[in-house]
Amino acid sequence: MPKKNGPNQFKVLIVGSGGREHAIAWKLKQSRKVNRIFCAPGNGGMSQIARCVNIKAENIRGLSDFAHRNRINLTVVGPEQPLAMGIADEFHRRKLKVFGPDRKGAQLESSKVFSKQFMAKYHIPTAPFRVFESASEAIGFCKTLEYPAVIKADGLAAGKGVIVVKSLEEAEHAIEKIMVDKIFGKSGDRIIVESFLRGQELSVMALTDGKAIVPLLPSQDHKQAYEGDRGPNTGGMGAYCPAGFVDDALLEEVHDHVLTPTLAGLRLEKINYRGVLYAGLMITNRGVKVLEFNCRFGDPEAQAVLPLLKTDLLELLTRVVNRRLSSQKKVEWREGSAACVIMASKGYPGKYRTGKKISGLSDKEGRSSFVLHSGTRREKGQWFTTGGRVLGVVGMAGDLKHALNQAYSLVRRIRFDGATFRRDIGYRCLEDGKKEQK
Ligand code: AMP
Ligand code: GLY
Repeated sequence: MPKKNGPNQFKVLIVGSGGREHAIAWKLKQSRKVNRIFCAPGNGGMSQIARCVNIKAENIRGLSDFAHRNRINLTVVGPEQPLAMGIADEFHRRKLKVFGPDRKGAQLESSKVFSKQFMAKYHIPTAPFRVFESASEAIGFCKTLEYPAVIKADGLAAGKGVIVVKSLEEAEHAIEKIMVDKIFGKSGDRIIVESFLRGQELSVMALTDGKAIVPLLPSQDHKQAYEGDRGPNTGGMGAYCPAGFVDDALLEEVHDHVLTPTLAGLRLEKINYRGVLYAGLMITNRGVKVLEFNCRFGDPEAQAVLPLLKTDLLELLTRVVNRRLSSQKKVEWREGSAACVIMASKGYPGKYRTGKKISGLSDKEGRSSFVLHSGTRREKGQWFTTGGRVLGVVGMAGDLKHALNQAYSLVRRIRFDGATFRRDIGYRCLEDGKKEQK
């Protein structure tokens, strides 16, 4: 590799330690303008391509000191927690460049009450809902409902704050757990009770600098732990991109009825949003509805979307940060599909063990399949598990079926005690394809 230097040489800091952050680091590494990548705190996989520094993602002061001292040109924030805590506000105060919305903007994710009220105010399609601050009032309301219904804790709850309830008894139980037992702490001071929506879920992540909004390719996550979308909700067990059931008319609907009014609403609320606006959508037979907004890249969606990106990621991120996104004519994508299969520890999303030795990981990256690490560490040349989600195995090919074949043949070569993964990633799209062929 030629030595890189010159005025355009960027030092980048990536905040976070999961597969999404590994995907961001991996993609930025391909940019000719990136000189050095630091990750805080990072993981074993990231340490292969970047320098990991031992500062936690929530240590905002420590991170801004590091960025200042090391003259970091751009900090990219992976997870929602530091954004909700105001990392972008602190970086702006210190005149440091940061990709991710400020605390006010991050409320779209950190408070479901804020987010739903915002959607109602700006006529963004979403499930009908009510907000409650008292458990007895919420239960009273639940007596008037049809089931299933959905109960949501207001604040962040590591992806576990949404409970689909099938009866009044289940609703009462969920409300008591959230509001009385406080299983999510203060995140459960208020709750949303909303109607249950049926349809296909879709993730549309868009980049915005507060003025322009540029959607990335649509993708689909698999939230439930077990095949056939059964079992408890997880952070995500796999994703693929593009979501083949999405046509131009649907993308236009998302653009016109979700992304554009959301951006307009943010501006009216005087929120200068710069980062990813992630719309978690349900495609119902009565149109597109927003299930939730997130204020950062999805995990594992990033692991399936970013590998297909041809446009330089650093270029896109700096345009967002410098409010020059409108001059980005087009985002270019590779042809074909990418799929990411998560390999997790037995027991996840419940209790699981770590420290298991991983075998079958290669130091060389394949062209059509490779591994993005979620929870690993490397010690004396050996790999060990450190988390619930351990690896994201990515396959790429001309179509989804072959991308999945690539990913699964690599999955079969990797072993650790208690490794679990879903064998049906992408099944909805493949089934739709089969139906179309009939
Ligand atoms: P959220 O964190 O709001 O995206 O919710 C997590 C998951 O719960 C979503 O990805 C859906 O699978 C499910 N969910 C949330 N809201 C609804 C709803 N109104 N109807 C059906 N499923 C929902
Ligand atoms: N994959 C869902 C999320 O990142 O929230």
